[in-house]
Amino acid sequence: MLLFENNIINIYGNVGQKWLDNLPHIINDLATQWHLSDLKPVENLSYNYVLSGFQSENPIILKLSLDTKGLIIETSALKAFKGRGVVEVLDQTGGALLIERAIPGYSLKEFFPNRETEVIAIACEAIKKLHSVPIINQNGFSTINDWLAALDKPCEQLGQSLIKARTLRDELLNTTDAPILLHGDLHHDNILAHDNNWKVIDPKGVIGELSYEVGCFIRNPLDDLPSHSDSLKIITNRINAFSKNLNLDPDRIAKWCFVQAVLATVWSLEDNITPTSFKHLTDIFDELVFK
Ligand SMILES: Nc1ncnc2c1ncn2[C@@H]1O[C@H](COP(=O)(O)OP(=O)(O)O)[C@@H](O)[C@H]1O
Ligand SMILES: [Mg+2]
Repeated sequence: MLLFENNIINIYGNVGQKWLDNLPHIINDLATQWHLSDLKPVENLSYNYVLSGFQSENPIILKLSLDTKGLIIETSALKAFKGRGVVEVLDQTGGALLIERAIPGYSLKEFFPNRETEVIAIACEAIKKLHSVPIINQNGFSTINDWLAALDKPCEQLGQSLIKARTLRDELLNTTDAPILLHGDLHHDNILAHDNNWKVIDPKGVIGELSYEVGCFIRNPLDDLPSHSDSLKIITNRINAFSKNLNLDPDRIAKWCFVQAVLATVWSLEDNITPTSFKHLTDIFDELVFK
């Protein structure tokens, strides 16, 4: 619980503290409104308060967020990807989202680092299913160009990496492939076991090219991969495997990985969170791209 509370206060300050204090009331009201029971917070809270429980007999997840706009976009993305391996949306109001619960619900993170080949195959299947018919009706979603504008702000701590990321970003955006609706945060903890299959949760919903989508998976799990003794080998293998399976240019994937690691560092600093893992990752991708 400590990481979640710290994150909320680092990002939202007093407003965050008030929201944390008010959570029991918000939950009570929603439980009455949506007929929810047996609500318990999940173990790995980070930026949102997520609870498991039941709606009548049906297993559900209730996700509460201070970022109402983000949650509305997540809802739109889940609806846009309906029937393509994502969890079903049951209801949504303000900063609350009610979704189908994946059961047993463990994530692909459980398989790191011993079952890499299997995990990459599962991730590729999830990506193919999401993008089986590319969604090009883009109303309401941001683009990766919007996201990457964050690299234009000065950031002393990043030095040369920021300059390199800007150059690569411009090169990649100027030569971009067909833009489609992407999940935008497709890492291990957002792919959950369900009924002998896998379900995708937590889309950011952003418009961009397919090679952008795999970068997030390649740099995760953030707590374990950057510090792993074989991180460079694991990452290189992933880039090659995604390239082969999804028919993408491996150099383009590696370049996006570098740009995204720098973007993630910028976002962490904006949220007053120390970006140790992202700095380490930036160094690894630097070695791959600029060798
Ligand atoms: N539909 C679901 N079924 C089962 N567990 C879920 C579901 N949605 C979320 N969770 C659990 O809650 C955690 C946080 O939810 P998530 O939507 O990923 O929030 P965040 O945006 O904070 O990452 C997930 O990593 C997972 O363990
Ligand atoms: Mg998540």
